[in-house]
Amino acid sequence: MLGMSGEGRKARAPLLESGEYAHAHKTAAPLRCCFWLAGHINVRKCVAGVMLLSVLTIFFYTNYVTAPFTSLVWRDRVPRPLSQCSVLAAQTARDHRSDARLRIDAKVLVIAESLYSRLGRDIAELLVANRIRYKVEVAGKSLPVLTTLDKGRYGVIVFESLSKYANMDKWNRELLDKYCREYSVGVVGFATPGEETLVGAQLKGFPLFMHTNLRLKDATLNPASPVLRLARAGETAWGPLPGDHWTVFRANSSTYEPVAWALRQNDYAPSEERILLATVMQDHGRLDGVQRVLFGAGLQFWLHRLLFLDALSYLSHGQLSLSLDRWILVDIDDIFVGERGTRLHEEDVSAMLASQAALQRLVPGFRFNLGFSAKYYHHGTVLENRGDDALLKNREHFNWFCHMWNHQQPHLYNNVSQLEAEMMLNKQFALEHGIPTNSCYSVSPHHSGVYPVHEPLYEAWRKVWDVKVTSTEEYPHLRPARLRRGFRHRGVMVLPRQTCGLFTHTLLLERYPGGRQRLDRSIQGGELFQTVVNNPINIFMTHMSNYGNDRLALYTFESVVKFLRCWTNVRLASAPPLALADKYFQMRPDELSPLWGNPCDDIRHKRIWSKSKWCDTLPKILIIGPQKTGSTALYTFLSMHPALMPNLPSPTTYEELQFFNNNNYMKGLDWYLNFFPPIEGNSTRIYFEKSATYFDGELVPRRAHALLPNAKIIAILISPSKRAYSWYQHIRSHGDPVANNYTFHAVITANDSAPKPLRDLRNRCLNPGKYSHYLERWAAEFGAHQLLVLDGAQLRSDPAAVMATLQRSLKLAPYRDYSRLLKYDPKKGFFCQAVSNEKTKCLGKSKGRVYPPMEERSAKFLKRYYTPHNTALSKLLVRLGRAVPQWLKDELSTNG
Ligand code: A3P
Repeated sequence: MLGMSGEGRKARAPLLESGEYAHAHKTAAPLRCCFWLAGHINVRKCVAGVMLLSVLTIFFYTNYVTAPFTSLVWRDRVPRPLSQCSVLAAQTARDHRSDARLRIDAKVLVIAESLYSRLGRDIAELLVANRIRYKVEVAGKSLPVLTTLDKGRYGVIVFESLSKYANMDKWNRELLDKYCREYSVGVVGFATPGEETLVGAQLKGFPLFMHTNLRLKDATLNPASPVLRLARAGETAWGPLPGDHWTVFRANSSTYEPVAWALRQNDYAPSEERILLATVMQDHGRLDGVQRVLFGAGLQFWLHRLLFLDALSYLSHGQLSLSLDRWILVDIDDIFVGERGTRLHEEDVSAMLASQAALQRLVPGFRFNLGFSAKYYHHGTVLENRGDDALLKNREHFNWFCHMWNHQQPHLYNNVSQLEAEMMLNKQFALEHGIPTNSCYSVSPHHSGVYPVHEPLYEAWRKVWDVKVTSTEEYPHLRPARLRRGFRHRGVMVLPRQTCGLFTHTLLLERYPGGRQRLDRSIQGGELFQTVVNNPINIFMTHMSNYGNDRLALYTFESVVKFLRCWTNVRLASAPPLALADKYFQMRPDELSPLWGNPCDDIRHKRIWSKSKWCDTLPKILIIGPQKTGSTALYTFLSMHPALMPNLPSPTTYEELQFFNNNNYMKGLDWYLNFFPPIEGNSTRIYFEKSATYFDGELVPRRAHALLPNAKIIAILISPSKRAYSWYQHIRSHGDPVANNYTFHAVITANDSAPKPLRDLRNRCLNPGKYSHYLERWAAEFGAHQLLVLDGAQLRSDPAAVMATLQRSLKLAPYRDYSRLLKYDPKKGFFCQAVSNEKTKCLGKSKGRVYPPMEERSAKFLKRYYTPHNTALSKLLVRLGRAVPQWLKDELSTNG
């Protein structure tokens, strides 16, 4: 992070103590003087004098001297921000979009060397960071399917190994070239280091020659290259390029054009005699109709990351072009909070204003965004208190947002009114001192309460500050940063925050050798630079000390912005958080809906999870349905097992919580957890949950996996035709007007010109029976060993057998013999709980209804309708290593 967290501040305490020691040491001199004078002057006067001197010294040090003797003060030694670009003229970025009617999907196919290869992973990470869809295939296998109907599945094909591409077998190569020509798809290839050094060797099948294993320096870009869009030519990346195994290309055909050049490391000739070596080469496709961009090294070199994105944009005819707009917000947390000695002086505030003005010229709309905790106002030395006043005097030049009054972590408050009272104190201060209170933005100390969500925080924020936006780096988890997402909860938009991971404060730069170089690497093409390149909206969290005692933030942001201007065509701008949040979710509406994870699965999240809440009781078994297959019977039977506990009942939906598949999910994790309170006494019992609509809910598998990654998932299947009929009877008896107006046959045979309510009913009746489709979705999230598929027909006819197998699969102890616990009730026509020798307790009237048998014609229609789905199901069950139930064999054995 760019600033110090609360822990960072704690870590500084010993230094201050050493300062106090030094102070004590200095006060010893008057004491010695006192002994010398003892014989001459009145002792009492002397002691009084020494005491007065000591008091004055203490007063002086604590009020005028910043961080005595700790070498923390660095403001005079901060380097000047990087200077201007060598080519100053603004360049217009090329537009790679083409008018041609393209028939390709905006997706990349990556042919990787292995699933674990370094470059393959780098490529995938860069694609993920830029939200570019891709598929990885391991080289050596036959080519994956490249088309769907008349559409190309991929817009660009990336070969991790150029030589694998060049040496592909003839058949596959011809197939690939044909695909590339027909769909105007380009190829990217990376020359990977080989043991043998090639000198002028020809790339098989191409009039292109390579020299390998070189050490290079001083990279430049070809301003004429049509590939450049994000990358801006004109600068030189001086110094050695990373790695000793560069490949350079040489060609004597006009189809080739260099994109980038470099020099040999040992090329010391006068500048006009130096030999420029092509490190990235474009093939215009003039010889064989296939366009290519070939790289002489991987993505370790920062410039190649830009060029790779440009190559994708160019070769896909703009289909994979990223927007060039980059929004930047710099939050300064901990205003008024810092330790004495690290806080702002008046001149720091002036430096901030000067830096802000400089940044505004490069980043329109830029303003530092100040988050204040007013409890600590005027808690510094005299000079620092003047700094506080200077901030307030210049308040209208900055943007402001509220922090916690006392910088306390909100998850420590379980009481909303307490939180509100704290926030009100901060607000009161803002009103008294003319700080604007309408930013609708806030952040929380240490991310506490934002994610994992602490509901009282959201409530208090809304009430006191009308907070509509916040930001965190914890969602869905801290690392990797490229996977951070936004979400919305209770009307508050939570933006992902990027932070500068490379430096924190003076100590790193001063005390650790190479600290400065690390920071500059981060700025000059490294992590910080790439963060802005890869993220359309960047929210950086910095801390007050980075503007006060070290001023590093000023250096860093001015430098990175200048570097971005020199090397890229991105259009930098800034806006207040609310406007940025709107932009973010317009770009990524799919992220609005949250994905809850278990705070117990992450040590950082556990640390910011209220002690009065729990997270280790979440269910370990989920019965997902589908509806009308016997899910209630299974739920009842499992509830009888001493090792298991069902969730508490919901007041509205009874035993079913229906959390993952509808609006209850938006109520948050606390809502769900309240149905799984800690189990007193017998701690070995585990919870299970059953909601029969989970089976076919589109988002359910993903959501369930995010929260319960290790859960066992139980599906129960019966003949889909019987299920459809049972479902129809079920909603009919619930008074559904459409079901009461139309016969079952009319519902299932309704065609697409039928009235909408009838079509909707048909879909709801028939769709869940397409079992294979939904099970595939579950299998994509959960391992095969986690998916249990029960035979619902057997559960009905012989529940004891099903329960015996299930107990083994779930490794439940103690084993229960259900043939003793269940008894067939002739009156009900089903197995029921055996309460005593004579008595049974059966499921209610709505389970095991009596209705006429299905019409023959409907049964025939459904059998035909479900045949392809049943066939797919049987294959899927075999693949998952599950038994094919008898009812499925019966359905597939004869054709109706
Ligand atoms: P019908 O009412 O159409 O006969 P669900 O609980 O998933 O909604 O499933 C209800 C179905 O469970 C019932 O459908 C019934 O056939 C079946 N079932 C299986 N075992 C049962 C049992 N022991 N008691 C009642 N119904 C049972």
